[in-house]
Amino acid sequence: MKDSISLVEKEAREELARVDSAEKAELFRVAYLGKKGKLTELFKGLGAVPSDEKKAIGAELNRVKQWLETSIGELRQKSSPKNSSVDVFDETLPGIKLPRGSIHLLQQTIAEISGIFNRMGFETVEGPEIETEFHNFTALNIPLDHPSRDAFDTFYTERGQVLRSQTSPVQIRVMKNRKPPLKVIAPGRVYRPDTVDASHSFMFHQLEGLMVDERVTFSDLKGVLHLFLRSLFGSQTKVRFRPHFFPFTEPSVEIDIQWGKGWLEILGAGSVDPNVFEEVGYDPSVVRGFAFGMGIERIAMLRHGINDIRHFYENDLRFLRQF
Ligand code: PHE
Repeated sequence: MKDSISLVEKEAREELARVDSAEKAELFRVAYLGKKGKLTELFKGLGAVPSDEKKAIGAELNRVKQWLETSIGELRQKSSPKNSSVDVFDETLPGIKLPRGSIHLLQQTIAEISGIFNRMGFETVEGPEIETEFHNFTALNIPLDHPSRDAFDTFYTERGQVLRSQTSPVQIRVMKNRKPPLKVIAPGRVYRPDTVDASHSFMFHQLEGLMVDERVTFSDLKGVLHLFLRSLFGSQTKVRFRPHFFPFTEPSVEIDIQWGKGWLEILGAGSVDPNVFEEVGYDPSVVRGFAFGMGIERIAMLRHGINDIRHFYENDLRFLRQF
């Protein structure tokens, strides 16, 4: 009996070395531990063993059986790691971490600015990025020979449309579609054929504002924009209104905030020019309004100390993760 056990064990050891798949491991298990397996057969012979040897033989059989079971278990793990991880669900393991995205700083900035105006009753609207010359220039009282219409300053499509060079055409679209009173803001992308460098990009973002009603004055413009700038930059912010010129507002201003020892331009604004009202079919002797526009990148760069506009567009996670 003892010899038979050693023989089976030796045989098993040799066969085991050739087992290299889950299927072979199963065949191996059946061959030794199955109903008619070689080791099972030896167990069956235990009854015929003289009683004084039974204990020792039984222990020997169990030792071989245990060794076989352990070896088969290890083989299974090795030959099908995928199956074993599906089969055994360990709820104590930490979960799989999915990378979490975040809102781009430019969109965060637009959301923050929009929030301030929304709370003052301005509704957010949008317009197309591919515009007509009419909406981008003509209706805004920009004459045909104005330099901003030049191909050096505006992208033209082959079909004579433009990539809007400002968000101001949204003013025209809103006024043509609606009747006053109006209080809207329009954030979005604008395009200009500038050579890309630390402070220029062929695409950037603006946010436009427009308020029209029967009794809107320049002091409303000042009040709204003063409140806006102090909400965004802090309640102590010093604000300066400087005379300027835009074809679609009259009078026009540029608005600066105090920044360190100097002043920084943040907004262009003014009272809606009567020519613009006429263009959209509003009666300039009845309605008044003001409009303003600002650059989003510039504001985000100021507030976060960003020194190169290209960081916004390069999708470098080391930059994006900071905000
Ligand atoms: N559209 C102007 C620009 O791009 C900004 C502006 C908007 C000025 C509305 C006045 C009123 O510079």
